Parts: sequence; C-alpha cells; structure tokens
Amino acid sequence: REHFWELNDGTNPPFNTQPDKLETLARECLSRNGRLYAESNAGFGWTHQANRQAFYRHRIIPHQLVDTNRRDTTTTLFGHKCAAPIGFAPVGINKIYNGAGEIPVAKVAGELMLPYGLSTAGSSSIEGVGAANDEGRTLDKAVHVEGSDDKPIRFFQLYMPHDDELTVSLLKRAHDSGFTACILTTDTWQLGWRHDDIATSNYAFYRGVGADLGLTDPVFQKRLEEAGIDPEKNPEGAAQKWIDENVWHGRAFSWEKIPWLIETWKEISGGAPFMIKGIQAVRDAQKAVEVGCDGIVVSNHAGRQVDGAIASLDALENIIDAGVGEKIVVTYDSGVRGASDIIKALCLGAKFVWVGRLWIWGLSVMGEQGVRHVMRSLLAEFDIAMAVGGFRNVDDFTRDRLESYPRSY
Ligand code: FNR
Repeated sequence: REHFWELNDGTNPPFNTQPDKLETLARECLSRNGRLYAESNAGFGWTHQANRQAFYRHRIIPHQLVDTNRRDTTTTLFGHKCAAPIGFAPVGINKIYNGAGEIPVAKVAGELMLPYGLSTAGSSSIEGVGAANDEGRTLDKAVHVEGSDDKPIRFFQLYMPHDDELTVSLLKRAHDSGFTACILTTDTWQLGWRHDDIATSNYAFYRGVGADLGLTDPVFQKRLEEAGIDPEKNPEGAAQKWIDENVWHGRAFSWEKIPWLIETWKEISGGAPFMIKGIQAVRDAQKAVEVGCDGIVVSNHAGRQVDGAIASLDALENIIDAGVGEKIVVTYDSGVRGASDIIKALCLGAKFVWVGRLWIWGLSVMGEQGVRHVMRSLLAEFDIAMAVGGFRNVDDFTRDRLESYPRSY
C-alpha cells in the first residue's frame, strides 16, 4: 500500500467517524456509567472547551503544486518508526466501554503501527496487553513501515504508587512485556472535581469493571495478603485497596522523587525513554529537561483535572517558544478530533500527537472493529490532508504553515 487512504477498501464504512456524530453515537451505545466516565470534565468544562477553541485560532496555509504523490506519513519516535505521528493516549478501565478491555485497543494499535499507551488504571493485565499489541502485527491488514523493524511501540503510563516496591514491580512487568518507554502522569494524584462522575462515583465504576492490572501484580497480591483481603472472596475490597492506596490515592509526589524514578526505570529497562505527562507550564517543561526526562506530553488530561486551566495547545506554544523542543521530545494531547488538529499541533512544534476520546468512542460503538475503523479513518484523513495541503513528510510541518490569530477568547 502506498497511501493510507487506500486502506479505505470501497466497502461501506460501519459508521460515520465525523467527530461530533461519532461522539453522539458513542453516547447512545454506552452504559450510563461508561458515558458519564468518558464525557465528564472538571467543573464547567471550560478547559475542555478551551482545548477545542485553541485549534480555531490557527489556520493551515495549504501549498499548491507540491509533489505529494510520494508523501510519507511516517515518523520516528525515540528511534522507533511509526506509521504516523499519532498515538493512542493511555485511558483507564477500558472494560467500562467494552468487555474485552484494553486487549482489542492494543491489538489495533499494533496492527496500525501506532504507539499504544497502557494506563496503570487498566482493566487488563500488562502481560495480556503486551501480547495483544504484538498480535496486531500478525494480522492480515497490518501496516508495514519501510525501514522499521516491524515491532510495535508501546508505552507504559505510570500512576506512581506510594509503595516503591510496587512501583518497581509494575515497571519490571512493563519492561518484561516489551514496553518501549515509561510515561509518568503527574496531573492526576487525585481525580479532578467532575460533577457528572461524582454522582455515580468513579470508585464504584472501577470496582464493577475490574482492576486486573493491579490485581495481577505479585507485590500487590502480597499487600492484599498482609491486609487479610482475599481477592476471590472480596473482590470489591481488593479493588478498593488498589484504587485508594496505589492509583488514585490523593497524595502528590514532588520533583524530588523523579530522579529516583528515572534511575529505577533506566536500570530496569536498560536505558529506555522516560517521559512526563500533564505538563502545561514552561517552568515544568524546563524542570523536566533538568531532571533528565527524554520527553514530555503537553496535556491537561482532556480538561478533566483543573477547570479554567490554559488550553493545552496554548501551553504547547509557550513551551516550544521557550526552546524545550530543541532539548527533549515534546509531544501533545488534549482536544484532538481530526487530522487538521494534528497538523496544527505538529506545525506548532510538537513531534507527536496522542488521541484519547476518539478511540474510546470507536471502542464504545463497535469494540475492536470500532477502534480500527476510527483510527484507520484518522490515518486516511491525515494522509489526504497532507496530499491536499502540500505536505510531503513530517519535516514540512513548520510554523510558517499556520496563520495564527491573537489569543482573544
Ligand atoms: C483519560 N486520560 C488518562 N490519562 C492517563 O495518563 N491515565 C489514565 O488512566 C487516563 N484515563 C482517561 C480516561 C478518560 C475517560 C479520558 C477521556 C482521558 C487522559 C488521556 O491520556 C489524554 O490525556 C486525553 O484523553 C487526551 O485528550 P482527548 O484526545 O481525549 O481530547
């Protein structure tokens, strides 16, 4: 296959992936709990809106008569070739959307040769997800990227426990399961105040859909034993312990802890990349450079944490202007709904872009097939946008390809 739009094989698509229509469809398909969890934002949802509005401030300037016939959507992230600068952002408790949890999502990411992020709040085991991601490479329609070793790229997103032995255990499992890199999320030491979600209680959801990632951990099993909790007889109590003490425990870490974590991960993984996710301030991006991170994810968690916070795209602009992109790998997420959003973030200086809600909606509508359809459509849209916009490869995504209007929301 020369171009992704050829992935569109002429059969009628199973559903429309226009983002507003897709969101509406997903809402109809989800259980009440799933819907409230997926769509809840902090407070009034102003940051969520700001994320979308920030994209309107930038307009793409197409170039004509550029030879885009041999265009190349691929990019290299930490030395690994990917089909496009697009990844699956880590999203927790996937069983709330689909009974198979993270498994089909990881599989499709592998198939499409796009980086996959697994959340510590996952409802499937690290090992199972790693195997599913590998399995994706064996599927008939798997995308092959020239110059790559054909191995999938996966990131383990860490919600860091306040139990170092448990942290080490999770990181070892991730490394043993072939995860390429570690991403520490720093904006969620506790969940933001999400009115919709509070009504039905996130904790209750979690108990209902399982916490396999945690429950399968040998150190965590030891902790359960010490606390006298039998996960067979008392699955609710076991899940509650995982949530309270190890995932959403409400106690923040500070920068002093980061060198220990980086050193530990590097030792376990033999020097694999380490990133911090949730960066919005220039000073934090600079601090990430100072402490030795290989990269950051500029993200406000899709507007789910601090309501009234800066739009993530504006934060990206500030961070790039401060020169951080010249020192470490700056990636972006929050509010991305289509190819033009991805192009704008790349033109502003992001090296790579993650999407969350888009694939959640696909998973909710039609499981594995739904994720595949949404992400293949996004790839096709990106490929076509490059063709008609006059972008031959990722080096063509430069700041002068945007007309940007002042910040006056
Ligand atoms: C998230 N996100 C998230 N991030 C993370 O590091 N660990 C997690 O477990 C989750 N869980 C999660 C659940 C749901 C329902 C959503 C919507 C988001 C944040 C996610 O990784 C990413 O930052 C955003 O989703 C990106 O914004 P968009 O693409 O969803 O607009």
